Amino acid sequence: MDVITHYSDEHHRTAVMTLWKIVFGYETAHHTPSLAIDKKLAVDDGLFFVALADDEVTGTVLAGYDGHRGWLYSVAVHPAHRGKGLGARLVHHAERALTQLGCMKINLQILRANEGVTAFYEALGYSTEPHISMGKKIESNIVPPDV
Ligand SMILES: CC(C)(COP(=O)(O)OP(=O)(O)OC[C@H]1O[C@@H](n2cnc3c(N)ncnc32)[C@H](O)[C@@H]1OP(=O)(O)O)[C@@H](O)C(=O)NCCC(=O)NCCS
Repeated sequence: MDVITHYSDEHHRTAVMTLWKIVFGYETAHHTPSLAIDKKLAVDDGLFFVALADDEVTGTVLAGYDGHRGWLYSVAVHPAHRGKGLGARLVHHAERALTQLGCMKINLQILRANEGVTAFYEALGYSTEPHISMGKKIESNIVPPDV
């Protein structure tokens, strides 16, 4: 069975970058895997988790907690490992970490193009909320490394 543990830059970086390219394939600069990993590690909050099967990275989840809300990001399971409960286990793992920090509510965002995944989160107790999600990029901080 897959083990869920803390991300190690030494052991998991290349595999996580490959997984995210396969699963998300984002083309926007601020989603560049190496940049996203470096930014998360810089925060050093211990909320970056990977799933491993025989030391191979099979999934990821990032969480964030700002003292008011908890957030889930980068919930990903390798296509060959889906449908066996790993996605649910990753979400539950992050939920437990956020709960231990005192978090009262967990939010997440889903791209319109990925609307079908709402069923996955609904099965885990999440519901769609009547909010308008807004965002603003800080372009000066979006500097992908040369990899
Ligand atoms: C979404 C994802 C993480 C689910 O991983 P998984 O390991 O296959 O999920 P699980 O096996 O734990 O499934 C849990 C439940 O959600 C359901 N489910 C899983 N993926 C689903 C999907 N894409 N759409 C609808 N329901 C889904 C499963 O049927 C299961 O329900 P059940 O317990 O009633 O059988 C995986 O499909 C994935 O990596 N998708 C691409 C990345 C993505 O969209 N991430 C979310 C970004 S917001």
